[in-house]
Amino acid sequence: MEKAKQYSEQNKDRFLSELLELLRIPSVSADSKHKADMVRTAEFVKASLENAGADKVEICQTGGHPIVYGEKIMDVKLPTVLVYGHYDVQPPDPLDLWQSPPFEPVIKKTDLHPEGAIFARGSCDDKGQMYMHVKAFESMMKTSSLPCNVKFMIEGEEEVGSSNLGIFVKANKERLKADVVLISDTSMIANDTPSIDVGLRGLAYMEVEVTGPNRDLHSGVYGGAVANPATILCQMIASLHDENNHITVKGFYDDVLTVSDADRGDLAKIPFDEKEYMKDLGINEVWGEKGYTSIERTSIRPTLEVNGIWGGYTGEGAKTVLPSKAFAKISMRLVPNQSSDNISKLFEKHFLSIAPPFVKVKVSAHHGGEPVLTPTDSVPFKAASMAMEKTFGKKPIATRGGGSIPIVALFEKELGLKTVLFGFGLDSDNLHSPNEKYGLFNFYKGIETIPYFFQYFTALKK
Ligand code: BES
Ligand code: MN
Ligand code: MN
Repeated sequence: MEKAKQYSEQNKDRFLSELLELLRIPSVSADSKHKADMVRTAEFVKASLENAGADKVEICQTGGHPIVYGEKIMDVKLPTVLVYGHYDVQPPDPLDLWQSPPFEPVIKKTDLHPEGAIFARGSCDDKGQMYMHVKAFESMMKTSSLPCNVKFMIEGEEEVGSSNLGIFVKANKERLKADVVLISDTSMIANDTPSIDVGLRGLAYMEVEVTGPNRDLHSGVYGGAVANPATILCQMIASLHDENNHITVKGFYDDVLTVSDADRGDLAKIPFDEKEYMKDLGINEVWGEKGYTSIERTSIRPTLEVNGIWGGYTGEGAKTVLPSKAFAKISMRLVPNQSSDNISKLFEKHFLSIAPPFVKVKVSAHHGGEPVLTPTDSVPFKAASMAMEKTFGKKPIATRGGGSIPIVALFEKELGLKTVLFGFGLDSDNLHSPNEKYGLFNFYKGIETIPYFFQYFTALKK
């Protein structure tokens, strides 16, 4: 793989300028006004796969945003790696908190990225990480060193639930036949502490609507005599955690797999500086479920969060009004063996049951996903571990990611494939937040490391 490494070093400036071009397209999947941008991004990905040397590159239409597929079959007898990534990004709001416009990438140095980081929406999640695979592939192709077969499936709806990808996967089982799925869409501990996620949390995402009076009322004329749905909603939400910050939804923990003391011991060994963590976030104390560390709270334990809450008057100035309705979006992160559907049902039942008689409550479910755990004693994990050890000079630590990639569980269910979560971002890269960034070190390290995964995986499979 030395030749591929040399090639990528010689072409690093071009790789970067191509990524910047990709980042300039505002591929916000959630916003229908960006539909044409989604198509442009898919075309960009298609062209980049073709230029890198992939065959049968195709933009596959779906009921939503397109999926880009491409492959290089060296020899049907060789193993096949299915690379998955997503070209869609989260909405950039709130815009006024960005130090530079989200779709005009700039490179700036930071404490954690002394070599410089690319500031742009999608730089880390996931265009930058996805593009590493295209460039690693190009580096292997142009130096005739691709050791196995590769298939690319890059979607445009990860940030909105991947429902069309689910349909595509079920309909294309033969085409997607592979030995492993490789995804760079997670984080590692630090640039000098490589790690590989061996688990992801699932997700159940709910929306609630609380209705009081049949219309907005003058808060002086009626306030005090009619229950305010915003107040009631706050009380209901507040009751979802008890004094130990356990979730009170009935049955919520019933299926949670207890993590062994040995595994918790491993988690305790992960370097974590709580002071630094609090300083970075501007908080005076951490918070969470009693009896668990911050790392455990964001990996092996389920959580419940209010993602948004609104109702009544939120415009400029003051308007005296008792709102008719109040709303909230509430998500729950799930761990093995919780089921997204089951938790959604339990939540709905519980939330309706705690509604006081002054209001009417409606609960509906958005998209969700199942948690996953991947084995550490497998060939793919070993190959990933060896590849990182080779390029970082250190064995990676096995960690569990707090986020969710719902499609991973589906790959296992529908294609029978295990996934390697080969992430090179950092949790502090501001994914989904203003000023998202991706380190140049991380981008180039990924491009350098991926070919070794291919090499070791192919060798170990023999
Ligand atoms: N790449 C993230 C997931 C992630 C980030 C996993 C960091 C582990 C560490 C992915 O794009 C994402 O944001 N997923 C969503 C779920 C989806 C259904 C919208 C999430 O986790 O909120
Ligand atoms: Mn992502
Ligand atoms: Mn994301």
